[in-house]
Amino acid sequence: MKKLIKNGTIVTAADEYKADVLIENGKVSAIGHDLTKHADEVMHAAGLYLFPGGVDPHTHLDMPFGGTVTADDYETGTIAAAYGGTTTVLDFCLTNKGEPLKDAIKEWHEKAKGKAVIDYGFHLMISEVNQEVLNELPSIIDEEGITSFKVFMAYKNVFQADDGVLFQTLLTAKEHGALVMVHAENGDVIDYLVNKALKEGNTDPIYHALTRPPEVEAEATGRAAHLTGLAESQLYVVHVTCSDAAEKIAEARRKGYQVWGETCQQYLVLDQNDLAKPHFEGAKYACSPPLRESRHQEELWKALKMGHLHTIGSDQCSFNFKGQKELGKGDFSKIPNGMPTIEDRFSIIFSEGVKKGRITINEFVDLVSTRVAKLFGMFPEKGTIAVGSDADIVIFDPNIERTISADTHHMNVDYNPFEGLKITGEPVSVLSRGEFVIRDKKFVGKPGSGQYLKRQRYYSPLKIKETIFR
Ligand code: URP
Ligand code: ZN
Ligand code: ZN
Repeated sequence: MKKLIKNGTIVTAADEYKADVLIENGKVSAIGHDLTKHADEVMHAAGLYLFPGGVDPHTHLDMPFGGTVTADDYETGTIAAAYGGTTTVLDFCLTNKGEPLKDAIKEWHEKAKGKAVIDYGFHLMISEVNQEVLNELPSIIDEEGITSFKVFMAYKNVFQADDGVLFQTLLTAKEHGALVMVHAENGDVIDYLVNKALKEGNTDPIYHALTRPPEVEAEATGRAAHLTGLAESQLYVVHVTCSDAAEKIAEARRKGYQVWGETCQQYLVLDQNDLAKPHFEGAKYACSPPLRESRHQEELWKALKMGHLHTIGSDQCSFNFKGQKELGKGDFSKIPNGMPTIEDRFSIIFSEGVKKGRITINEFVDLVSTRVAKLFGMFPEKGTIAVGSDADIVIFDPNIERTISADTHHMNVDYNPFEGLKITGEPVSVLSRGEFVIRDKKFVGKPGSGQYLKRQRYYSPLKIKETIFR
């Protein structure tokens, strides 16, 4: 069965042009004009954009955290992602000290099996480095295709690893061709500030932000960048929230270090005042690193524009307000950290970025899809529309106006942090490997149809590499 998307405007990280796209066996098989005679089914897309499916580098689905488990699992999370134009997610696989890494990976495969409606891959958390871990990692890269490792520099006594672990992970990643990701906040300093605030009777959600100031993020970002330079390795800093941290990345890159930065739409449109909302409503906005003073938003847009930050992830980590966020009533440090954000990443960045003239339409595609696919070993199957690529395509109406609301979203959670935000542009239909997942704004996919992605090794974009289709 050959599908043709006719007369749409194809937009990639490099180009914008009108053409027809022919889809065959889940791949783009031709791009051109007058292809109708080759098709069994024709979809008309005049006036609509055809974007490569969004690639979300940062999700937490079905993840235990803060004494509870995220509200969205692989089914509800990936359905919501698809509605929003995301066709690939990279989710964080948590590991337990002293247990084989392969056991954790197996557990994560079980979570996704029969549920994911779009393609997915895993990043692997590293919290200790010993002989067992060093023995396992090469086969995890080769056999599982997991080519990115995550080290937490914060969440003391939970996920936090020390600098020795980070440095050895950087060395190992360099040797085997993987990318090291860091949650960059100084966990020891945060621990001190949190205990001090609580002792002084400061228990409201706003203290979540006040005990994790920009300096602790900037310090950890700079430290991780220096260690990367020393190891001659490669680093990806997740969820950068402030100009202070973005500057550390820019500084490292000026020295020639391979350091990449991600921010998230929440840091571009929400701010610290949200955490001060009355009646414990501020808890809805507790995530780490925290939302910042609004002046950081334009600085982050500038950093994206200047190439100091390179991708936009959702950091989806959803907890209901009722019964989950409420665990932190009377003690902000017990609020489960994270927000429901997987659904509207694509549209918010289009609306706030492209429509408001902060970034070009090609930069938009690069930030939400192409660059992510390249850094995490999925390009050119993912991240572009080209002959031979997976037919992951978003048919997007750039002129629909809508207001984000929990009443209409598809995430399995009782609030939306972007409630009331007016945006322009919405995916109308979304294809994953040539099959509709969303058709005319209705979910038509099948749980379990998403495929696990074995990814290629990290390669330095500074080195020349011949790109071949597998
Ligand atoms: O608050 C957040 N971001 N929760 C998810 C875990 C993490 O740190 O990314
Ligand atoms: Zn984090
Ligand atoms: Zn996260």
